[in-house]
Amino acid sequence: MQDVRGKVAVVTGGASGIGRGMARAFAGAGMKVMVADRDAAMRDETVQGLRAGGTEAEGCNCDVADLASVEALAQATLDRFGAVHVVCNNAGIGVPTPTHKLNIEDWRWIIDVDLWGPIYGVKVFLPVMEEQGEGHINATSSLAGLFAAQMMGAYNVAKHGVVALMATLERDLRGRKSPVRASVLCPGPINTNISRHSVAYRPSKAKPKADGERSGRVAAGIQASLEAGMDPDEVGLLVLDAVQRDRFWVHTHPEMLRGVELQVQAMLDEQRLTKG
Ligand SMILES: NC(=O)c1ccc[n+]([C@@H]2O[C@H](COP(=O)([O-])OP(=O)(O)OC[C@H]3O[C@@H](n4cnc5c(N)ncnc54)[C@H](O)[C@@H]3O)[C@@H](O)[C@H]2O)c1
Repeated sequence: MQDVRGKVAVVTGGASGIGRGMARAFAGAGMKVMVADRDAAMRDETVQGLRAGGTEAEGCNCDVADLASVEALAQATLDRFGAVHVVCNNAGIGVPTPTHKLNIEDWRWIIDVDLWGPIYGVKVFLPVMEEQGEGHINATSSLAGLFAAQMMGAYNVAKHGVVALMATLERDLRGRKSPVRASVLCPGPINTNISRHSVAYRPSKAKPKADGERSGRVAAGIQASLEAGMDPDEVGLLVLDAVQRDRFWVHTHPEMLRGVELQVQAMLDEQRLTKG
């Protein structure tokens, strides 16, 4: 899909951070944009910002963990714009907790949003795009989808699932010569409010369980790296480029893939798991 001008993009979690960066990048390339998010205030602000720049933009209340809500998003997009060319399954949350302390409610919440969200997005939007004869489906995974670091058990499981989902999808699509392409975004640290939003949305009333001083240090390290991270608008431009060039992998910090490489090497050489 080289030429995106006039085409329609849907971005879940589009009201903040990386999703808003994608919405801005698509708008900058002349696309019409549907901003899907569960937060009304951030959603309205983002849509107003896009409209002020001359973009045809709309907002839609959507909970990606709810299939009916994702179906309603597809319908609202078709009603408003008459087509859907690019879908970014980006909404996500995460809380750092040691795996043995993660309660079942948190496991379900994180898997529901971070993995079932993209699964619903593929299930609902793929038939629309195939019928239309063109389209591109992206999903936001993470470096956590390629390397399972400590303290992020449910998040790692969901994000590894997203990489598997999109890689299988792309191979299936190519295998049957579908006109639709798939890609996956694996960001490193990006400067967003994901930590604050995740704490606010967390349904469990139980306090997230830390594991003494060590887990406090790991959580503080994650937060510091987010604050020093890449500008989300830059990430949006990388996703736009991948859509325009039909590239599968979208990496924000390719140098951090060295950890993945070392892990594979240690597995092959010594059946050993590297530190992380
Ligand atoms: N920030 C990072 O360093 C980083 C790194 C790797 C991957 N990611 C991934 O990037 C994606 C975007 O995160 P971000 O960092 O921009 O965070 P963010 O909190 O700034 O943006 C996420 C958006 O998703 C929305 N959202 C949350 N749950 C939702 C739900 N159930 N339904 C609909 N919308 C929902 C939030 O309201 C918010 O607007 C996530 O999938 C996250 O896991 C982020």
